[in-house]
Amino acid sequence: MIEISNVTKSYNNISNAVENLNLTINDGEIFGFLGPNGAGKTTTIKMITGIIAQDKGEIKINGINTKERPIESKKQFAFVPDSPDMFLRLKGLEYINFMADIYEVPKAIRKDRIEKLAERFDMASALGDKIQTYSHGMRQKIVIMGALIHDPSVWILDEPLTGLDPKSSFVLKEMMKEHANSGKTVFFSTHVLEVAEKLCDRVAIINKGKILFCGTLEEMKDHFKENSSLENMFLEMTENE
Ligand SMILES: Nc1ncnc2c1ncn2[C@@H]1O[C@H](COP(=O)(O)OP(=O)(O)O)[C@@H](O)[C@H]1O
Ligand SMILES: [Mg+2]
Repeated sequence: MIEISNVTKSYNNISNAVENLNLTINDGEIFGFLGPNGAGKTTTIKMITGIIAQDKGEIKINGINTKERPIESKKQFAFVPDSPDMFLRLKGLEYINFMADIYEVPKAIRKDRIEKLAERFDMASALGDKIQTYSHGMRQKIVIMGALIHDPSVWILDEPLTGLDPKSSFVLKEMMKEHANSGKTVFFSTHVLEVAEKLCDRVAIINKGKILFCGTLEEMKDHFKENSSLENMFLEMTENE
């Protein structure tokens, strides 16, 4: 569970990148965070994950305040950032072991998890190669594998499907569903509306740092006239700003 209360962030003290944001992401749901480029999605995710600090407000992950107990709160989640270009000089397996070390995953458990993740993402034969040699999609997959190695209850994914090939995208979406169905939490951002339409239990739409809508897709459809596609609704919402 993620609870965001009255969170505000400004990069320049002039305008707010995120303004008075309130969101609760419940256990057992896939929650889509939608918005156009520059809306404030990544800023919000960076605050949830403690990469940057909010100016105001409070964030709790599984009830743990991210500012008061940063290490405990970080143990609760997996984070997949929007750019997978990191630790390029490590081999895939070295990177995953590095992540497993940080999160103190016991050696016996980790081997099994690595095998399962590698198999699902079709990465077994690439684990011995340097990440530098990976395609964008493979880099994305190794970052996801590293993020999931400690099997956290909360998944936080920033544009996770961008750059994945159709098969990997399918696999990740299946894993997101399984995770939510097992009573755990999936929070991801996207500007690809079709993805949200098929995958999410609930969505929030953010534009210019403010939440324009939060609810189920059904509610959203009711809210923005019947029979119009999510894309139309989305355009309507952002145009009215
Ligand atoms: N490091 C930064 N310094 C200054 N402004 C930033 C920084 N990161 C993001 N912004 C600004 O904050 C706003 C929200 O950006 P961001 O959260 O990255 O949006 P999104 O992820 O929805 O595309 C944009 O106006 C962007 O230009
Ligand atoms: Mg972003």
